[in-house]
Amino acid sequence: MKAAIYPGSFDPVTFGHIDIIKRAATIFDTLIVSVLNNERKSSLFSVDERVKLLREVTKDIPNVEIDSFDGLLVDYAAKKDVHVVVRGLRAITDFEYELQNAQTNRLLSKGELDTMFLTTSLEYAYLSSSAVKEIARFGGDISACVPKYEEQIIIDKLNSLK
Ligand code: PNS
Repeated sequence: MKAAIYPGSFDPVTFGHIDIIKRAATIFDTLIVSVLNNERKSSLFSVDERVKLLREVTKDIPNVEIDSFDGLLVDYAAKKDVHVVVRGLRAITDFEYELQNAQTNRLLSKGELDTMFLTTSLEYAYLSSSAVKEIARFGGDISACVPKYEEQIIIDKLNSLK
């Protein structure tokens, strides 16, 4: 059984993430999509809320599991006995950060953890969770960015913080 972990902040999950999830789920027997619990990064949604959103939008993909983790990705992957990380690459601007993370993870894991990159589909190349929050904050239309299920949840969350 080949398994992979797709880690991220997913604050919130977008069509760009879902595109990577769907494609990675056809390559691996099991794909664990895992939300990083990063107390140093301020997020719109709590980890539990992000897990719930991810479960809902991936409920029709049978080989996807949703989870969360703290600390180093290499430790989490070792605990899960998974040796491949999946990440999406949107543009060259992502590359340096992703390369650094991938090399660090190989070093820390003594070669046990590799990273596989999928290039984001072109229609989502400029989509990011930050852009979704910015558009929604100013009353813009986010229907091209996130599934219908999420739209009102994002708007309500932003309104609750006003
Ligand atoms: O969606 P993001 O915020 O770009 O995801 C970044 C993530 C979660 C993949 C990355 O920050 C991560 O793996 N953090 C866990 C901490 C860690 O292992 N750091 C060492 C790699 S430099």
